[in-house]
Amino acid sequence: MSNSLFRRKDVKKAIEESKKGDDGHSLSRILGVRDLTTLGIAAIIGAGIFSTIGLASFNGGPAVSLLFVFVAIACVFTALSYAQFASMVPVSGSAYTYAYVSFGEVLAWIIGWALILEYAVSNMVVAISWSSYFIGMLEGFGIHFPMWLAIDYTSAKEAYEIVQAGGTDIALNTKTLAKAFADAPDLGFIKLIFNLPAGLVTVLITSLCYIGIKESRNASNILVALKLGVILLVIIVGVFYVKPANWSPFAPNGVNGVLSGVASVFFAFIGFDSISTTAEEAKNPQRDLPRAMLLCLLICTVLYVLITTVLTGMVNYTELNVADPLAYVFQKVGFDFVAGVISVSAVVAITSALLAYQIGQPRIWMTMSRDGLLGKKFGEIHPKFKTPSFATIVTGVLVAVPSLFFKMSFFVDLTSVGTFFAFILVCAGVLVLDTKGMSKDAKFKIPYVNAKYFAVPLLLVALYLTYREGDVMKHMEERPLLFVFWLVWLYLAAMSFKYNFSLLPVLGILTNLYLMTELGWSNWRMFIIWMVIGLVIYFAYGYQNSKLAKK
Ligand code: ALA
Repeated sequence: MSNSLFRRKDVKKAIEESKKGDDGHSLSRILGVRDLTTLGIAAIIGAGIFSTIGLASFNGGPAVSLLFVFVAIACVFTALSYAQFASMVPVSGSAYTYAYVSFGEVLAWIIGWALILEYAVSNMVVAISWSSYFIGMLEGFGIHFPMWLAIDYTSAKEAYEIVQAGGTDIALNTKTLAKAFADAPDLGFIKLIFNLPAGLVTVLITSLCYIGIKESRNASNILVALKLGVILLVIIVGVFYVKPANWSPFAPNGVNGVLSGVASVFFAFIGFDSISTTAEEAKNPQRDLPRAMLLCLLICTVLYVLITTVLTGMVNYTELNVADPLAYVFQKVGFDFVAGVISVSAVVAITSALLAYQIGQPRIWMTMSRDGLLGKKFGEIHPKFKTPSFATIVTGVLVAVPSLFFKMSFFVDLTSVGTFFAFILVCAGVLVLDTKGMSKDAKFKIPYVNAKYFAVPLLLVALYLTYREGDVMKHMEERPLLFVFWLVWLYLAAMSFKYNFSLLPVLGILTNLYLMTELGWSNWRMFIIWMVIGLVIYFAYGYQNSKLAKK
């Protein structure tokens, strides 16, 4: 049994199979390095920078720009690992395929299952965020969309209860939501409240993905140009309104305040890896995927750090607890026109993120279906449109339905914890392949530095610094997940002596794991439940139907 759980896919076979699907059709290879970079930027810049960054800055103060740098470093280590894999296994399955060739089937399934959190669940956040910007934009044009048709039931009910309880300093947003609850049609046993724009935009974008990658690429290129334009506008105009006094105090709530923004900041970076799902539509995937991944990450990191620095310099951090921080700061300095332009562009920006993930998810399922771990239908390629047709429709339904009814914050945490997990396994996968001597032929290789010279000294320094900060044991009692982190570090340090591990993937594992421990136990618990459900499905279906089992 344990052998069959860890049966591994052969790299050459994976590439061969990708050339022709089971039904004889293959995807069209039309994407160049510029298109891939654009798709990456489309996926990265979205709901994160346009909305969740507000709360992160409010909690962390100006120092949140340093959190962006730290998270970017973790992402660069991860992107290098993705790039090495993408140059070796240019197949649409992304981290799922990488795990299949390095760790074996059961871990590949687990990663494929976790990727649903990164792609489909994150798109629920993006769709909901799109809806709130869209409603705001309509308001700007004087069109009043009924709020009970643009919000989830729980948020409206919670707000209604707050207002009913009374009080003096109730936020305007809470009052609006409470009114939505009161205005909603009463079905007798429940109020009719749902987020129609979120569902509709998902259906529209899914239709675009269904009819062709070329159409999706063209749409994405235009949307990204607009999105970069608005970010640059914020930075360039904003610089003139920066008051250095706003940067002090730099970290008003200490390290904990800054780190409470990990999920939001990480959410803003998710997406550079999604390019790897289009490997079979890239003209020269082995050369272009690594380049595009690193390039889009670099561009976004620079923009993010600049934008947070400008934002926290324009107004005091205490004012940033708003859903539309970029537009808000310009209103605040009396630039209503720029604020309006930003609101409209945010709708555009978020649309392109939605598009990128709706493209990614079906392609992962398509690859899993080819391997026999999902039903054959998921691998079907449309004869005319050359897209994974059935998987695209299922993705549309899976994202559209929950986004009609559920609250956004729940999905942000779930996405982040699942994506950290996938990133850690991709970094670890590189170490496995290196150890087995399988990455010799990789067209892109992570620069090699032997981890054994650094892992132990760095561990000692980190432990010393933690000790100096206070009582190590008390620290761990408060955050028991740190035990996992220190243990993994110790293990990697020991293994580095045995196998001469490459330093950068090791640092990738450690930085991602550290950030993951910041997410807290309740998120880990949700993630574990999600994984258990995934394993039940694997044993009920994939284990028997896997192509490797049939052999
Ligand atoms: N990085 C993507 C966004 O911020 C998920 O919307």
